[in-house]
Amino acid sequence: MASAIDTTQVFKNDLFSGKVLLCSGGGSGICRGMTTAMVKHGASAVIVSRSKDKLEKAAEEIRKETGGQVIAVSGDVRKPEDMENAVKATIEKFGRIDFLINGAAGNFLAPLQGLSYNAFKTVIEIDVMGTFNLTKAASEHLKKSRGSVINVSATLYYTGVPFQLHAGTAKAAIDAMTKHLAIELGPHGVRVNGISPGPIASTVGMEKLGAAFKRDGSALDYSGVPMGRAGETMDIAQATVFLNSQGASWINGVTLVVDGGSWMTSSPADYPKMVLNPPKLARL
Ligand code: COA
Repeated sequence: MASAIDTTQVFKNDLFSGKVLLCSGGGSGICRGMTTAMVKHGASAVIVSRSKDKLEKAAEEIRKETGGQVIAVSGDVRKPEDMENAVKATIEKFGRIDFLINGAAGNFLAPLQGLSYNAFKTVIEIDVMGTFNLTKAASEHLKKSRGSVINVSATLYYTGVPFQLHAGTAKAAIDAMTKHLAIELGPHGVRVNGISPGPIASTVGMEKLGAAFKRDGSALDYSGVPMGRAGETMDIAQATVFLNSQGASWINGVTLVVDGGSWMTSSPADYPKMVLNPPKLARL
């Protein structure tokens, strides 16, 4: 991914100096951009996901790009012991956790008939259990630092979207968790918010999920987005830096939609056609 993340034009360079970020899914796509931005502002970071080689490479690239400290810890967010281990590794290396980003997610396009019992369960486990597992594992450290949590969500369930039953259900649960956690952790000084990104160009997500929305079979069509363009990882990075900054110190329990207004103009009129004549859904 060509990163081009530079939020220092808007926010102070040293905003997060001496602070530490733990991010699941930080090795690729949107979460990698979120991590890069936080490190550019002085935070040290630990990125966690399953694929060790990919993760090590991403950590190395973020270090090179930012000059900051980034380490990779492999682990499966579905396994509580892996998340306990990621927290332990973070504390051993950096001594604290100020920011948590729950970004690990699984998704693909599949109609109800094509969604096996295990496929549905897998996405719920990665998204919902993953968010719970890492937050629980990190919570005492977040309380100590009076930190901030960002749960990565999606707007899918606001309207319902074909072939996204599993992911939409998972993200609805994550948004509920954001509110419950905001109430339980708020009194300890920890803010818990979410970010719901719209369609972000050149990410695994768009590669996997854009297939149903290619009108002419090739280019993705963003003409329905009120802001007239696809999102960039930089858009999500800006929102991340803001939500983690003191500028957002009274924002708690909110899921911020960062999508150029896209979900409000998605095309429900196309949905019945899409369901009755599904596009070819390749496995990537
Ligand atoms: N369509 C329908 N079912 C699918 C699928 C697809 N494209 N991809 C996987 N599945 C099903 C599998 O067939 C399996 O079900 P089964 O046992 O009944 O056959 C189930 O989902 C679990 O798949 P598996 O590959 O064993 O699980 P995994 O834990 O290795 O992978 C995924 C999880 C499926 C979410 C995988 O795509 C993944 O890890 N993705 C991470 C990256 C990603 O998707 N990010 C999200 C960007 S928005």
